[in-house]
Amino acid sequence: MTDELELRLDSLAGVGPVTTRKLNDAGIQNIMDLIVRGPVEIAELTGMDIDSSSKICEKAREDLVKGGLIAKDFISASELYKKRQTIGMITTGTDALDTLFAGGIETQALTEVYGEFGCGKTQFCHTMCVQVQKPKAEGGLEGGVLYMDSENTFRPERIKSMAEGYGLDPKEVLSKIHVGRAYNSDQQMLMVDKALELATKHPIKLLGIDSLTSAFRAEFLGRGTLAERQQKIRAHMRDLDKFMEGTNAATVVTNQVHSNPQAMFGDPTKPVGGHIVGHTSKFRIYLRKGKAGTRVCRLKDSPHLPESEAVISILEEGIRD
Ligand code: GTP
Ligand code: MG
Repeated sequence: MTDELELRLDSLAGVGPVTTRKLNDAGIQNIMDLIVRGPVEIAELTGMDIDSSSKICEKAREDLVKGGLIAKDFISASELYKKRQTIGMITTGTDALDTLFAGGIETQALTEVYGEFGCGKTQFCHTMCVQVQKPKAEGGLEGGVLYMDSENTFRPERIKSMAEGYGLDPKEVLSKIHVGRAYNSDQQMLMVDKALELATKHPIKLLGIDSLTSAFRAEFLGRGTLAERQQKIRAHMRDLDKFMEGTNAATVVTNQVHSNPQAMFGDPTKPVGGHIVGHTSKFRIYLRKGKAGTRVCRLKDSPHLPESEAVISILEEGIRD
């Protein structure tokens, strides 16, 4: 969908080279950036007056609506139906998890995997990086991956063993995963804009974020800053929503649980970010260690599926039944 649409700023009627440069200097690279930021922020970033920035943003919105990249304010249910028909599904590679997800993880939706350290969240993300590249006949989407790594735990070696385990060419699989290190929450948020830009150049079908919340959590310590943190996470989730809507890609994020049972607040089995993350997540998966090295996945809060459990193992070649 994005491949066909001209997203360059200078393709907007009425935006000349001077304005384009001004926008570029402020970090606005394409039309989608204008929409994501909105007139107030654009005016602040560039120093232009709010009337001008509103006009540019409105023009950008019209172009994207025309191009079918974003919805107009109201769309008919039949259009919505048509849009939902384009939702793709990515198999998880195990029968147990595919049953849990009723087929696999979906595009245009956010899947959140949470649980304590070592429960397999990162391994799940790695697995999906390979799964999404499988041929459509085998449950993949033949798409590439953007991976935002905030914990420095992305390991190409793991991808290689998993690709080999599925009989895929490891070199090819690795070349289609674009990895970015997010060192702090601001950078993580900016990376979503970059992701949109990259998705116009590569057929991206999966955005992985490992972890969604750890940077926010490290920077906003204690109860006093909780409101501020939640507000920032909310903005991040909104950007992710726009990313998925614009690209028809799936998003998989990991999340920690409130790990300190002695703390005055926070349930040790509840994910960080609470409802703010939960409202955007279509699937929430609670992973925990089971008997004999197995992992138990529990599907929580899905809009259309019952709460249920599946048992999996993490092996050298990936996640297996
Ligand atoms: P945190 O990021 O610390 O919160 O943990 P996590 O939930 O991301 O855990 P992760 O996905 O890193 O899982 C770690 C576990 O996966 C290890 O304890 C191992 O059991 C398993 N694992 C990781 N790599 C391998 C591997 O190459 N072979 C096998 N068999 N198991 C592996
Ligand atoms: Mg991890």
